[in-house]
Amino acid sequence: MSHLTSRMRALKVIPVIAIKDAHKAAKLAQVLSENGLPCAEVTFRTEAAAQAIRNMREAYPDMLIGAGTVLTTQQVDAAIEAGVDFIVSPGFNPTTVKYCQQRNMPIIPGVNNPSLVEQAMEMGLNTLKFFPAEPSGGVEMLKALSAVYPVSFMPTGGVNPANVNQYLALNAVFACGGTWMVPGNLIDEERWDELAELVKNVATIVGE
Ligand code: 3PG
Repeated sequence: MSHLTSRMRALKVIPVIAIKDAHKAAKLAQVLSENGLPCAEVTFRTEAAAQAIRNMREAYPDMLIGAGTVLTTQQVDAAIEAGVDFIVSPGFNPTTVKYCQQRNMPIIPGVNNPSLVEQAMEMGLNTLKFFPAEPSGGVEMLKALSAVYPVSFMPTGGVNPANVNQYLALNAVFACGGTWMVPGNLIDEERWDELAELVKNVATIVGE
């Protein structure tokens, strides 16, 4: 298991974040780090993503920070320049996968069927995002895939407090991703105390 995967396995869950204002990133990093979840997958669905990553990294250098929803090689460059530890994409795009490999940057691409798993394996990958997890068959689909392929998955998409432990119970699951841990409106409205409570509660849900 890679160093990255073992860090994620220890964390169990990776909050998927869409942040609109990079000025709020350092405070968000503080709330996450001080309440037991020192990690973030910052999605490139907002303009602020790269600067937000930079601000989080500066405030909390040891935090595990990834870029999510990375669709292009330009976004790979921006994410690396901002200081990420890993990159996630919703689908399996051989161009971005190859580019990340050339740049020595771990990439966790999204797959949701056997053919995509095999294409990813062919490119030397063994840690994949299972996306969108719930609409793609959820825990049962993952059981079927992991019975056949020697790869580990990070299910994301429809994972929530009610089903997260069913995913985490599978040996092939190294962590679960999701937006439920860090709702965007709490960041936008700077409701940091509420966010801190939610983040603390994650440990209660998934166990210490
Ligand atoms: C992602 O980018 O991985 C998804 O938006 C997360 O899905 P969720 O909102 O259902 O957690």
